[in-house]
Amino acid sequence: SQEHSFEVTEQADVHSFFSRRSPESNKGDYGRLLCLCGSDGMAGAAIMSAKAAVRCGAGLVNVALPRSIYPIVASRVIEPVYTLLDYDQEGNLQDGSRAAFFQAFSAASACLIGCGLGKSKKTAELVCRLISESQIPLIVDADGINILAENINILKTAHAPIVLTPHPGEMARLLKTSVKDVQSHRLEYARNFAKEHNVILVLKGAGTLIAEPNGMAHLNMTGNAGMAKGGSGDVLAGMMASFLAQGMEPVKAAVGAVYLHGAAGDRCAKELSQCAMLPTDIIEMLPGLFLEIE
Ligand code: APR
Ligand code: MG
Repeated sequence: SQEHSFEVTEQADVHSFFSRRSPESNKGDYGRLLCLCGSDGMAGAAIMSAKAAVRCGAGLVNVALPRSIYPIVASRVIEPVYTLLDYDQEGNLQDGSRAAFFQAFSAASACLIGCGLGKSKKTAELVCRLISESQIPLIVDADGINILAENINILKTAHAPIVLTPHPGEMARLLKTSVKDVQSHRLEYARNFAKEHNVILVLKGAGTLIAEPNGMAHLNMTGNAGMAKGGSGDVLAGMMASFLAQGMEPVKAAVGAVYLHGAAGDRCAKELSQCAMLPTDIIEMLPGLFLEIE
């Protein structure tokens, strides 16, 4: 039954999620992704998620980030536009930044929240407000998940599709249990969480699981231990967010991004070795995969 089964993701299924870019199309046809990512000391997470997002076809990417890290991020990823956030002494967004951020949010077709975001009290308040008020699909990763773990009831107030992408440690925080317990009940916990909270739950790690609110689950077989490096998760989040922003159904965006992320990682391992491959190499392997889709 659906209750106990899962589907292994196949390449042909993933390829069918993508449609041709019409010759007449323009960037407005490929969505606007807003990323709320990065903080002092975690510029790399903003860089890698944004770079992955632009490599996955989104029409426009806007990265909202603290002014302090803007130079380093924008010098590494030049395709997005940037919304610079200024904070006051108490850590509140200043009025102008708040207005600019919410203007970008209301123009977006999807929003990625959390890669390298930090989890100060004011940031947590903003994240909770976005989850509660959003009209557009959200993907919540990393510190976005850590914030959610301390405010889990906010999910009851959400009405837009939400995709959560915890690694086993973040899943353990969401469930207030141990990583060991999560790892020995991966399918059960992912499925129960998705059903109970009405979200798409992507439980990462070898054999990533994608659980839908209706009880359906998907098992991913691509990927390898060369991806077990800080940054690989940010790449995945950017890919998924890019697909969501382009209007792909949330489940397909999740299943497709996980599959392609792993497939790109497998090509990296073959060419560069599991030891030496970097998360940014995963991004650079994406063009070859999209050539096969197109
Ligand atoms: N096999 C297949 N895929 C793997 C494997 C493996 N053995 N190991 C890792 N991966 C994949 C995961 O499935 C996931 O897609 O690599 C990605 C790792 O994502 P995260 O664990 O979120 O890692 P990331 O966020 O890039 O870096 C770790 O998270 O806990 C925080 O502060 C911590 O900075 C650290 C960061
Ligand atoms: Mg992560």
